[in-house]
Amino acid sequence: MTVNTTSVLFVCLGNICRSPSAEAVFKKKSADDGLTIEIDSAGTAGYHNGAAPDKRSQAVGLEKGYSFKGLKCRKVVEQDFEKFDYILGMDNDNVANLLKACPEEFKHKVSLLLSFSQSEEQQVPDPYYGGRRGFEYVLNLIEEGVDGLIKHLKSSRS
Ligand code: 4NP
Repeated sequence: MTVNTTSVLFVCLGNICRSPSAEAVFKKKSADDGLTIEIDSAGTAGYHNGAAPDKRSQAVGLEKGYSFKGLKCRKVVEQDFEKFDYILGMDNDNVANLLKACPEEFKHKVSLLLSFSQSEEQQVPDPYYGGRRGFEYVLNLIEEGVDGLIKHLKSSRS
């Protein structure tokens, strides 16, 4: 990792719905804003290791101009806690599982994505067993979280 490049890891359970969507949204929005940020996503479980993002997440994301090209599911690994500056879970279970695995010295890096937004929702719910509307709702929440995160990063740089 280049010194001074902020790095962000988005985390959900399976790394096929919410966190790859957050990665895709943040890649586009941060690039549009001229920010150079290292961005990745991972899951607390490894059920789908190596798989592409869920087709339903891709469908709603592609319609809004986000790219999922090259994204592949992986599990969170120990080195992530040292490597990334921000480790952002989608729901309280993700954060609890991250904190269980995270060395004490890096625990301050772990928080909820929506803690950066003004949204009334605190968590991005798991859309896996629901229909298309759930995926649209999740994408909207992720966009709110990412917008708030970008605001935060810009204000902490100035
Ligand atoms: P994600 O959604 O955590 O947003 O990627 C899920 C994907 C797969 C499963 C659960 C949640 N699963 O049980 O296989």
